[in-house]
Amino acid sequence: MILYHELIELLKNTLKEDNPVKNIVRTFSDESGKSRFIEINTSLLKNEEGNIKGALCSFNDITERKEFESKIDKIDRLASLGELAAGLAHEIRNPLAGIKTSTQVLANRTEQNDANVLLFDKIISEIDRMNKLITDLLNFAKPPASRLEKRDITKIIRESAKFLEEHFRKCKVNITFNFPLKEYFVLVDGYQMKQIFLNLFMNAIKAMPEGGRISVYIAAKGDFIEIYVRDTGKGISQENLPRIFDPFFTTDPKGTGLGLSVVQKLVIQNGGEIDVKSELNKGTTFCIKLPVIRGEKSYEKEDFSNR
Ligand SMILES: Nc1ncnc2c1ncn2[C@@H]1O[C@H](COP(=O)(O)OP(=O)(O)OP(=O)(O)O)[C@@H](O)[C@H]1O
Ligand SMILES: [Mg+2]
Repeated sequence: MILYHELIELLKNTLKEDNPVKNIVRTFSDESGKSRFIEINTSLLKNEEGNIKGALCSFNDITERKEFESKIDKIDRLASLGELAAGLAHEIRNPLAGIKTSTQVLANRTEQNDANVLLFDKIISEIDRMNKLITDLLNFAKPPASRLEKRDITKIIRESAKFLEEHFRKCKVNITFNFPLKEYFVLVDGYQMKQIFLNLFMNAIKAMPEGGRISVYIAAKGDFIEIYVRDTGKGISQENLPRIFDPFFTTDPKGTGLGLSVVQKLVIQNGGEIDVKSELNKGTTFCIKLPVIRGEKSYEKEDFSNR
């Protein structure tokens, strides 16, 4: 907070000691509650003869610079965290696979009563959870290079949904596809694309605890296709929306918050862009934009932007 009497003191000091202050930074909250950073400098005002006539105080709003610096700091921290995580993940994954196999062997050798079955199921599901966390961390820290191939994206989307078929049924989620053309060819890593859609579908399911609908549709826009994944879930607040792609941001007590940061990294690695729109208690729509393969432009008359 810049205090009035502090400013007076600064100016008095500048005059008295002939000692201007340089780059003092103070913070205060603006009307919207956002912190702003102000840099203060003072200087002496002299006439042509060099006699002191007064003191000047200048204010410079350096909020944007500060925000940029803190982003760079965060990236630096994440880069070293990433290297550490990648190393650790490798070391943890192998013994974990060993523990899981041994547990399964032990489970088969043990008397199959309810209590034992429950206990072993719990151990295995906790191992799977740890494995997911480690895999997510590894994918985030060091995503494997993309092997781009000509693939029909509608097929990849349908295969990803098929993989979760049982889950959709259990959670009372209905998934529909609207692909105006039979095939849309793009240059992508098929495995990574599946990871992307699995993450989006899983998030949508989590956002609809009472069940609901996921609709996937494609709109071709010249050199690009836009793939929309829309759900009828609880939506994302305006406050959280800018943070959902941040690593470790999660509102799910069981989540790691790495899903969407991996998704974003993979989309970019595959030459695409990802965007999101959401309305609380109505639903969320993710849009993935991918370049189509040259010479395979597709135009559609329909406008999907309002769906
Ligand atoms: N379709 C959606 N509807 C509502 N909120 C969503 C949706 N997708 C993402 N979110 C919000 O974004 C957050 C971050 O998503 P992200 O996939 O990165 O992590 P997560 O699902 O919480 O954990 P995990 O690491 O297991 O994926 C979620 O916790 C949720 O708050
Ligand atoms: Mg997720």
